[in-house]
Amino acid sequence: MEVRVGSVEDVRRDGCRTVDVNGRPVGVISVGEEFFAISDKCPHMGASMCQGSLSGTFVPAGPHEYVYGRAGMVIRCPWHGWEFDIESGRSLLDPKRVGLKTYRVTQEDGEVVLHV
Ligand code: FES
Repeated sequence: MEVRVGSVEDVRRDGCRTVDVNGRPVGVISVGEEFFAISDKCPHMGASMCQGSLSGTFVPAGPHEYVYGRAGMVIRCPWHGWEFDIESGRSLLDPKRVGLKTYRVTQEDGEVVLHV
């Protein structure tokens, strides 16, 4: 099923737009030239992830090295701060057990299209 989310310009301006897909909230997120989509319901207590903030995180590096990466690819829940990678949906703290469902997003004729 395809869901028209809005124009590329509008979704970029919003940063994150929540759409209802058969009663399930899905957050469509703009990062640079790309779009990502995740479940917009935090697995902890149900907050809207779209109300959270985007950032990066420290990535694996050598001993005594601190390398910041994944800029704009980590979303932090607005209620208690759980963090998720918006590309994989996996929790940064417990990636094997906790995550958000992800969806494919494309751009067609100037519109953002969510594939569910
Ligand atoms: S509701 Fe998201 S971390 Fe608690």
